[in-house]
Amino acid sequence: MRTIAHLSDLHFGRHDETTAERLLADISGAQPDLTVITGDLTQRARHRQFAAARAFLEKLPRPVVAIPGNHDVPLYDIVERFLGRLARYRRYISAELQPFFTDDEIALLGLNTARSATFANGRISHRQSAAIKTVFSEVPAGRFRILAIHHPLVVPVAANSAPVGRAALALEAITEAGVRLVLSGHSHRALSGDPAGSDLLAKGSILFVHAGTAISTRLRGEPNSYNLLRVEPAAVTCTVRAFAGNNFSNAETAHYTLLGGRWTRRQPVSLEKS
Ligand SMILES: [Fe+2]
Ligand SMILES: [Fe+2]
Repeated sequence: MRTIAHLSDLHFGRHDETTAERLLADISGAQPDLTVITGDLTQRARHRQFAAARAFLEKLPRPVVAIPGNHDVPLYDIVERFLGRLARYRRYISAELQPFFTDDEIALLGLNTARSATFANGRISHRQSAAIKTVFSEVPAGRFRILAIHHPLVVPVAANSAPVGRAALALEAITEAGVRLVLSGHSHRALSGDPAGSDLLAKGSILFVHAGTAISTRLRGEPNSYNLLRVEPAAVTCTVRAFAGNNFSNAETAHYTLLGGRWTRRQPVSLEKS
C-alpha cells in the first residue's frame, strides 16, 4: 500500500499563511510515500510568489512531484509569456515539466497542460498523448498507474467547468496505458468517484480524483482541503482532509474497489471523526 498526499491550487500570493503552516504539519504527520501537487502553485506567477511556493515545497516530506497550472504562466510579462512561458516555474519549482515517479508499487506521470494564463482550460498535446503510452509501456506489469494533471479530463456537471482541451485524446491514451487513477485540480472542489450526474469513473476503469484548493482564499463554496489517498493494487481510499477551525481533519472518505476491471464505490461517502 502507498499513501499519497494530493494537494492542489496553492495560489501563493493569495493564500492564507496560517492554513499553509497547518497544512505542512498535517502532511508531515501523515507521512506520505509521495506528495503530488497538481498545479496553480502561484496566483500570478510573480517571482516573490514562486519564491514563497519554493520555500513551502522545501518543507514538504519527500519525494514531491509537482506540475504547473494555468496561474503559473505570467499574465502581463509579454516577453516571458512568449519566450519562456514557464521560465519562472522551471527556475523556482522544477525544470521537469513531465515528471515521473515510480517505486515497487506505483508509477505516476505528471503532464503540463498550462498553455497560457488566458487559455484557462489548458490543453493536452499530441506529443503528450504519445508520451503517456510510451512512458507507461516501460512500467512493469502490475504496478499501479497514475496520471497527474492540473486540468481535469472529466468534470462533473456540478463543477460547471469544461474539461481540458483534447481530453478525449488523453482518455484514449490513458485507457490504453492502463492508468487507473487520475489526480487533478483547477476546479477548487474536492470530488472523486461518480457523484450523481457526473462521469468521474471513465468507462468504469479509471477513477478521477479532484483536489480542492489547499491554502488559497479563492474558495468556491467549500473549505480548504487536500486529499490523502491510500493506494493498493485493486483498491483506493480517498480521504478529504479539510481545514476547519484551526486544523485539517477528515471530512469525507470514499472507498473504491476494482472488481473485474471496474471501479465500484464500496460504501457511500461517510463523515468520520479524525
Ligand atoms: Fe486554481
Ligand atoms: Fe487552474
